[in-house]
Amino acid sequence: MNKATRPVVLLLFGGSSAEHEVSVRSAANVAAAIDGDKYDLRLAGIDKKGRWVLIDDPGFFGKHAVVSYRREKELFLPPDGSRTLWSLFDRKPFCTVDVVFPLIHGTFGEDGTLQGLLQLAGVPFVGSGVLSSAVCMDKDFTKRMLRDAGVAVGRFLVFRFCDNRDFRAIREELGFPLFVKPANLGSSVGISRVNDEKELARAMERAFRYDTKILVEEAITGREIECAVLGNETPVASVSGEIVPANGFYSYEAKYIDEKGARLVIPAQVSEQDEGRIKSLAVRSYEVLGCEGLARVDCFLLPDGGLLVNEVNTLPGFTSISMYPKLFEASGVGARELTDRLIRFGIERHERQKKLIRAFEVPGE
Ligand SMILES: Nc1ncnc2c1ncn2[C@@H]1O[C@H](COP(=O)(O)OP(=O)(O)O)[C@@H](O)[C@H]1O
Ligand SMILES: [Mg+2]
Repeated sequence: MNKATRPVVLLLFGGSSAEHEVSVRSAANVAAAIDGDKYDLRLAGIDKKGRWVLIDDPGFFGKHAVVSYRREKELFLPPDGSRTLWSLFDRKPFCTVDVVFPLIHGTFGEDGTLQGLLQLAGVPFVGSGVLSSAVCMDKDFTKRMLRDAGVAVGRFLVFRFCDNRDFRAIREELGFPLFVKPANLGSSVGISRVNDEKELARAMERAFRYDTKILVEEAITGREIECAVLGNETPVASVSGEIVPANGFYSYEAKYIDEKGARLVIPAQVSEQDEGRIKSLAVRSYEVLGCEGLARVDCFLLPDGGLLVNEVNTLPGFTSISMYPKLFEASGVGARELTDRLIRFGIERHERQKKLIRAFEVPGE
């Protein structure tokens, strides 16, 4: 391919969520996987305050765990449909972007806000759009959408910060033990498992520090099975994988700090029949929630064979130990092909949307 005509892919990473460092690690892998002969890869980091900075040091990932602000490198993507990335320092256009790969987990990356900005900027991007990203970020909305479509989810109650907290009613409805979690967060931040009313009160207080809406869920006894999904209108599922947490549940420490905190088993040791059910549940959930590009669907496989969906992540981790790329690797889709397909799905979706009529047209004209 002619190097001058390669599409410009802007890999965006970092961001202001608790998963900033995870995003940088994810981006290192994606940057290494993207085919440089096919795409003109540019890197932009978002610092913890939300400022965009050009990363032009090819060795950045080997040296840095976080994105730091540099005034002379600050970038700006205006919401004017021009797809032009500007250097704020020189007040000059830096480049025209053909597609953005927004690899930012959690708040302001995975929740539809960044997707809204990219949509206004007129840039094709990898992954789900505004609505699906926002719905999947909100564990209450995710569960209600799935339940409405007949997909099984665990029993749960939702509380807003201003609601009356009737602990006895919670106990009567769901029993103990319970899980308490903020509605819109990830990485197990603010999540507690509780065994009695006193712990429940404390856990709810804690979860409300992170969100104005929280979920109280029955504790599920089952195996944690995850399945990766890829595609737009005809999504495909990977093989499934199992998370085996060492201490009770898959906490923040188990995910990112303690190497021995959890074991990943890929492919999951399940029967062929269960594997088929998991895959179709994952694809069904993906479709119900309007996901595009990619998502990881996390389930519980119950001792009696039942399957529940726990949550759906629209921008799952891509670190060297992350499930999403590992599951596709085990399914015969390596990192280079995976990133290529993701980029193409982003462009295809944009092309389709561009053709839609957005204004009233006089019939016959
Ligand atoms: N209702 C539940 N029953 C049993 N374990 C749970 C439940 N909810 C969460 N967990 C445990 O907590 C972990 C994190 O919860 P999850 O809902 O996946 O939030 P996050 O978005 O932070 O990953 C899960 O991977 C699982 O180990
Ligand atoms: Mg989870």
